[in-house]
Amino acid sequence: VTAEKGGFAHFMLKEIHEQPKAYRDTMLGRIDESGRRIILPDLHLTEDKIRSINNVHVVACGTAYHAGLVGGAVIERLVRIPVMYDVASEYRYRSPLITPETLVIVVSQSGETADTLAALREAQANGAHVLAITNVVGSSIARDADDVINTLAGPEIAVASTKAYTSQLIAFYLFSLYLAQVRGTQTADEIAHIIAAMHALPEQVESMLANVDAIKAYAEHIAKHKDLFFIGRGLDYAVAMEGSLKLKEISYIHSEAYAAGELKHGTLALIEEGIPVIALATQESVLEKTVSNIKEVKARGADVLALTYEEHVAGLLKSVDQAFAIPKTLSILAPALSVVPLQLLAYYASLARGNDVDKPRNLAKSVTVE
Ligand code: G6P
Repeated sequence: VTAEKGGFAHFMLKEIHEQPKAYRDTMLGRIDESGRRIILPDLHLTEDKIRSINNVHVVACGTAYHAGLVGGAVIERLVRIPVMYDVASEYRYRSPLITPETLVIVVSQSGETADTLAALREAQANGAHVLAITNVVGSSIARDADDVINTLAGPEIAVASTKAYTSQLIAFYLFSLYLAQVRGTQTADEIAHIIAAMHALPEQVESMLANVDAIKAYAEHIAKHKDLFFIGRGLDYAVAMEGSLKLKEISYIHSEAYAAGELKHGTLALIEEGIPVIALATQESVLEKTVSNIKEVKARGADVLALTYEEHVAGLLKSVDQAFAIPKTLSILAPALSVVPLQLLAYYASLARGNDVDKPRNLAKSVTVE
């Protein structure tokens, strides 16, 4: 059994460590040799069709939905098309406004999630083109979608999704750049610049995985708590949601992810002496704003850990109790790095609590019934 796990104690840890390979495999063959263009030769979506899209819906469940929150925001930023997000179980019942100019992107590791499959059918019935981002070739969602971008994460066994999520981010980066290339919303140099930063991601993840002692110690501290909060703005908020979900799924510690600026509208009332708050602070355009929110929770006694770039650690340490650095990257790519310590945090917290890491209570890897 340990052989199956490649020497790791759990599938989840093995899969966390497989992320650099999953990033490379998902990029392979989809970037041309000059490193300046995206090539997605299997897409049926024509360039004319791409130019006619006037809105995008991103629909998924669970962790795949969280990847969609990042991916949709990246599309908006690079391509300037309005994007709407929905969990599949809501989308299918609220008669969403779908037209033939809507591109619907469904995201699913397994390709078998019942709600996501139903959402895909609803979208197609209303004339939308459906692109699926899935990890299982030949799955129901892959078969029924009009287009598929396969993530090449390899089989994911642990119920808590890790490498599938980050591979979904890579697929979204590639697709967003492709749309930007076709619609001319980014220059060739801007696209090349982002591609270069993407190529650096696998090694950057490797460097984080070689250095887990601090996060492990922090997880052991967190394991004694009942509640905690994740806060962030923009893409940091999207990653906060994934960090919170991961922790809930396998450690059973209650946590909430909050948009940092929204705390003062209610959740701040829950902040009391010693409560752990994990503040993601990688989005530099809103860093100052995030720091003000950190000060709000600090003033109420929170025990704050910040996740940021090395260059901001010293500054942030004036307002937080601890700070962990992640390698430097572009703001849109930060989720592909900042989520890794949060995956490790959930893993080690679950371990410290003696839980069944790979098979958490009440959850299934793939939910094929409604
Ligand atoms: C289940 C799994 C989650 C997963 C979600 C969506 O709830 O436990 O890890 O994110 O389904 O699964 P999918 O296969 O569609 O990505």
